[in-house]
Amino acid sequence: MNKTISAAITAVGGYVPEEKLTNFDLEKMVDTNDEWIRTRTGISERRILKGEGLATSDMAVPAVLELCKKRGIDPLEIDCIICCTVTPDLVFPATANIIGDKIGAKNAFGFDLQAACSGFLYGVTTGASFIESGRYKKVVVVGADKMSAIIDYSDRATCIIFGDGAGAILLEPNQEGYGVQDSILRSDGSGCQYLHMKAGGSKKPASIETVMAKEHFAYQEGQAVFKFAVKGMADVSAELLERNNLTGEDIAWLVPHQANLRIIDATASRMKLPKEKVMINIQKYGNTTSGTIPLCLWEWENQLNKGDKIVLAAFGGGFTWGATLVNWAY
Ligand code: UT7
Repeated sequence: MNKTISAAITAVGGYVPEEKLTNFDLEKMVDTNDEWIRTRTGISERRILKGEGLATSDMAVPAVLELCKKRGIDPLEIDCIICCTVTPDLVFPATANIIGDKIGAKNAFGFDLQAACSGFLYGVTTGASFIESGRYKKVVVVGADKMSAIIDYSDRATCIIFGDGAGAILLEPNQEGYGVQDSILRSDGSGCQYLHMKAGGSKKPASIETVMAKEHFAYQEGQAVFKFAVKGMADVSAELLERNNLTGEDIAWLVPHQANLRIIDATASRMKLPKEKVMINIQKYGNTTSGTIPLCLWEWENQLNKGDKIVLAAFGGGFTWGATLVNWAY
């Protein structure tokens, strides 16, 4: 795609809480075992944000401050903060505003973007459009989720997957062709039935009954989601390569959403990518929803080279899914 101004990723920050919840801890909470979890998902442990009153913004803030420090910018220079999350601090106002306040980004406007596990991809594409339009110069996209706030730790099918964490990127204009090249984003609301939260929205506001019925937790029909995810993430990643006349050999890294190692493997194999080119940290952090992709970029940042072509890919609740091609800028 030819763009006069492209949106380059110029810095990455991340944050995971100290506290670990291991498979062995979960064995004491629900009827499960380490072997089942590792073989079915690839996860060994996840991080949990503990502490009274601590929320998603408390993980997003250190991630954003880290990227400001790395890039040598003052938060006052940020034009826009897009916070991708399904676990906002409050139903309203937007967590992006709370982050902006906490870091002193007084010149930034901000909003939350909710596309479940594909949130970060939607955020990157939205933020990149702001940059490409020439209207804004510094857009922060943060993917952050405190999943432990909405997980039922007596539901063994769901609680084993999720963890807490946050990652953030800075998007800036580039005139040499680096940055976000192309994105394919998809959604299908008929998938809502398989992955959702039953109460707390306008359809079924919170009541004593909804709390007693555990309807404020994430509800997931894992196997159904799995089937759609394997096909959706692999199809869209292959389509992105094809329409950019690329093959797996041209790609330096696949950065997949970390929901299940089997979904990641299926996507990599469809793109004909060897495992060495796939960022995988699901074993340490589990599924941090909007946090997975930027947390991978954060962890692999030192191994990325200018000009590397990388594909970000995700599938999640909604259903939402997509893939984004990035030409690494530094
Ligand atoms: O990130 C956004 C989107 N989410 C996803 O992409 C998640 C997609 N889904 C998955 O990753 C998988 O479906 C899960 C990891 C959630 C579940 O794995 P699965 O291989 O699909 O298991 P299943 O639900 O088909 O259950 C198989 C068996 C069942 O027992 P029976 O009926 O065969 O006797 C379950 O009751 O495994 C049982 N089971 C467990 N056993 C031990 C389910 N959860 C557990 C558990 N420990 N934690």
